[in-house]
Amino acid sequence: MSPSFVPPSRGVLDDCVRLATTAPSLHNSQPWKFRVTPPEVEVYADPGRHLPVIDPAGREHLISVGAAVFTLRLAMRRAGYDVRCDLLPDPADPALAARVTAGRVTPVDQLTEQLAAAIPHRHTNRSPFADVAVPAGAVDRLRSAARREGATLTVAGPVARDAILGLARAADRRLRERPHYADELRRWTGQNARHDGVPVWAAAPWDALEIMPMRDFVPVGPGPRPREPFEPHPTIMVLATAGDTRADWLRAGMALQRVLLTATWLGLATTPISQPVEVAAVRSVLGRTPAQMVLRVGYGRVSGRTPRRPLSEVLLPAGPSRVTATGNGDERP
Ligand SMILES: Cc1cc2nc3c(=O)[nH]c(=O)nc-3n(C[C@H](O)[C@H](O)[C@H](O)COP(=O)(O)O)c2cc1C
Repeated sequence: MSPSFVPPSRGVLDDCVRLATTAPSLHNSQPWKFRVTPPEVEVYADPGRHLPVIDPAGREHLISVGAAVFTLRLAMRRAGYDVRCDLLPDPADPALAARVTAGRVTPVDQLTEQLAAAIPHRHTNRSPFADVAVPAGAVDRLRSAARREGATLTVAGPVARDAILGLARAADRRLRERPHYADELRRWTGQNARHDGVPVWAAAPWDALEIMPMRDFVPVGPGPRPREPFEPHPTIMVLATAGDTRADWLRAGMALQRVLLTATWLGLATTPISQPVEVAAVRSVLGRTPAQMVLRVGYGRVSGRTPRRPLSEVLLPAGPSRVTATGNGDERP
């Protein structure tokens, strides 16, 4: 540490962590914990918030954590610091996903400003999108966003798009047959007075033509599920990484969040569609390199932001204690 180094205050880093918690996560499970020790923030994957039925290997668990790590990096950079990020820095502590350290004070560039401005506005949009093509320039920026995080984003042509949507519908049917899938989904859906899970208002209408494989978040109620036609020519993209290790899953999450924030900055709406990557047989035919997420991108109507747990619930006390499945005092729904 140089003598002129001025570390960010605890308050600045807490604000960065608060922004990190706005990241997307599987069923809004928010599977993260943070330990703030200026000038560094440790990001832990919270095993108590892993969804074992839909995500037995913990891949989407770490993608979610990776999305929070990217947001933290960005927020610290936006606060005016050079940022160093070490993934899985301690082999003896696999829950420690990343250590993000502030370095010297550095002027903030325009791209950082743009992406950081998008953080509070990004959200998953499950409404039907307008029948308007995503401009080629915007697609290029999304692909470059993925590349900057070491991932690839492939835009499906019409034939591949129809094939991917067909595979996603097949995967959705397979998931519904998986024992305890519905129970797990219900546990994370539609309850009031919670700071996690997917609220009823954020669930999608059903595609009247049954083409778009929207996740069935809403429990079967007394009336029929609202049906609407979705866009006839959706823009579908596949995010992939070179490998399929735990570090690759974290990188996929960082790339996912950079792509989503870039889309938000460009005024685009996004829906992660993960059923096709949750069924191994379907995932294996999605591309030559491991597919990590399918994304739907377009122009959607206004949607809201889902709740987040308060900072007090995600901060770990300073000190060497580890995050364990049973020992972090975190109550799951
Ligand atoms: C790994 C991962 C998988 C997801 N899969 C889906 C999905 O299949 N369908 C869906 O509608 N949303 C999916 N989402 C979006 C989450 O449900 C969403 O991020 C969460 O509910 C929080 O809402 P927000 O994105 O609006 O902040 C996924 C997000 C992540 C990070």
